[in-house]
Amino acid sequence: MQPTTINNFVRTEFNEEAPSNRIKYDINLNSKEFELVVNDLVLDFDIDEVVETGTFNGLGSTSVFAKTGKYVFTIECNKNNFETATKNLEQYQNVCVIHGLSLQREILIKHLIHQEFDIDTTYDSDYPKSFYMREINQQVVLENALDVLANNDRRQLVFLDSAGGVGYAEFLEFMNYEGKHNKILVLDDIDHIKHKRSVEYLEIRGYQVSKSVGNRFAWCDLSKGKLRK
Ligand SMILES: C[S@@+](CC[C@H](N)C(=O)[O-])C[C@H]1O[C@@H](n2cnc3c(N)ncnc32)[C@H](O)[C@@H]1O
Repeated sequence: MQPTTINNFVRTEFNEEAPSNRIKYDINLNSKEFELVVNDLVLDFDIDEVVETGTFNGLGSTSVFAKTGKYVFTIECNKNNFETATKNLEQYQNVCVIHGLSLQREILIKHLIHQEFDIDTTYDSDYPKSFYMREINQQVVLENALDVLANNDRRQLVFLDSAGGVGYAEFLEFMNYEGKHNKILVLDDIDHIKHKRSVEYLEIRGYQVSKSVGNRFAWCDLSKGKLRK
C-alpha cells in the first residue's frame, strides 16, 4: 500500500507485511468512547477550557472538544493544517485555532537530536529524528504556545497530541507547570513513541491513569481528586 501524504508529512498505511512497530490507527481521534470520556471529564471536573496540541484538520479530537461548548484553544504548527482546521471549525465560536508550536523551537529540536528512539514501542518512520524534525520545521505565529495557554491555575483539560517524537518533551514541560494540579491531562497514542513514557512517568509517581479500550488514549486527574465536583 502507498504512504498517504498529509500536507508536508507522510503517514504510512499498513498492510500485513508492515513492521509491527509502526503506528496503525487513524490520525483523527473522534471515537464514541473518546467523546464519552471527554464529556464526562468536562462535567465531573467542571472544566472551563480545553487546550490541545496538534489540531490536524480539526475534524478529530478538536471537533469533540468543540461540541462541549467550552472554550477550546488548539495549537497547530502546520500552516495548511491550521487553515483547513480553521475553516472546518468555523461554526464553533468557542474554538480558536492558534498557528503555533507547542514549545520553543530550540527545545523541540534539542529533544529530537538527543533522543535515541530505542524504546520498544511504535514509530511513524524508520528515520524518526528527521521525520519529526520535518513535522515541526514550520514558520509559526507563536512559539511556546502550550506555556502561554496552559501554564496557569485555571481548570483546564489539556490534551497532548502533536508530533510523536516531541510528545514526551511536551509532557515533561507541562509537568513543570505550577498550576498542573488544576488540570485533567489527556494523552493520545499511549502505545506509541508519543506518550508511552508519559504514562509510565505518571504511574511511577502514583497518579491514577485510566486507559481507553485498546490502549489508544489515556486520562489522568492531576488534582488527585480535588477538582472533582
Ligand atoms: C496526530 S495529529 C493531531 C490529530 C488531532 N488531535 C485529531 O485527533 O484529529 C498531529 C498534528 O500536530 C501537528 N504538530 C506536530 N508537532 C507540533 C507542535 N510541536 N506544535 C504544534 N503542532 C504540532 C502536526 O502538524 C499535526 O497536524
